[in-house]
Amino acid sequence: MAAISSLDLLAQQQWRYATKQFDPDRKIPKEQWSALEQTLILTPSSYGMQPWKFLVLHQDQALRERLVGHSWGQRQVADCSHYVVFTVRTEITEADLTTYIELIASVRNAPTSSLDSLRKMILGGVINGKSPAQQQEWATRQAYIALGNFMTSAALLGIDTCPMEGIDPAKYDETLGLKGSGYATSVGCAAGYRAAQDKYASLAKVRFPASAMIERR
Ligand SMILES: Cc1cc2nc3c(=O)[nH]c(=O)nc-3n(C[C@H](O)[C@H](O)[C@H](O)COP(=O)(O)O)c2cc1C
Repeated sequence: MAAISSLDLLAQQQWRYATKQFDPDRKIPKEQWSALEQTLILTPSSYGMQPWKFLVLHQDQALRERLVGHSWGQRQVADCSHYVVFTVRTEITEADLTTYIELIASVRNAPTSSLDSLRKMILGGVINGKSPAQQQEWATRQAYIALGNFMTSAALLGIDTCPMEGIDPAKYDETLGLKGSGYATSVGCAAGYRAAQDKYASLAKVRFPASAMIERR
């Protein structure tokens, strides 16, 4: 039995759009926000490494107003209910790997020695096999999976989002005090409720036909 019907899934995919104007007076209820935070945490990542931290900006309105200035003036940052900044590790270190292996061992009640082959694989593929710049790029790809998961989950709850790549990551890092923290801004996402006057809500979706985008073999 499907968890939701195909019709319901597609209805929410059609309903979702990159919201340009949020209603600043509507806030996401606590229980739903908590579920969305959990979807961030539950996002899959390569090797399960979770090379990210999600900054949730909700209370500090002055901070969000300052970020508007580093977001091409896009008001979604300040007017939405919750604004998430997806930050990623600037470097993946052997210490990160050890922390992760210890977490698996404790959650699954397994000796760390049983995880030696996984450790070796990650050590070769991610820690020693990539430069710090490549590691950050790899981490950024993982963050975009979290972004997609977040937007789809929000749409299923009837919550609007706008992914925000039109931002100045270096200025975000400065404003959010991330410099030297081991994390850097990759992308943002505003979440909340569309304003009644947002004309983008009723625009037809612009998508290439499936015949051009999907090749079946
Ligand atoms: C990674 C990413 C970054 C985006 N950045 C912005 C942005 O900064 N501002 C904005 O208004 N829309 C942004 N968009 C929204 C896209 O323009 C939008 O998703 C696309 O045109 C398709 O329209 P739809 O999402 O309404 O169906 C972004 C989308 C993605 C996936």
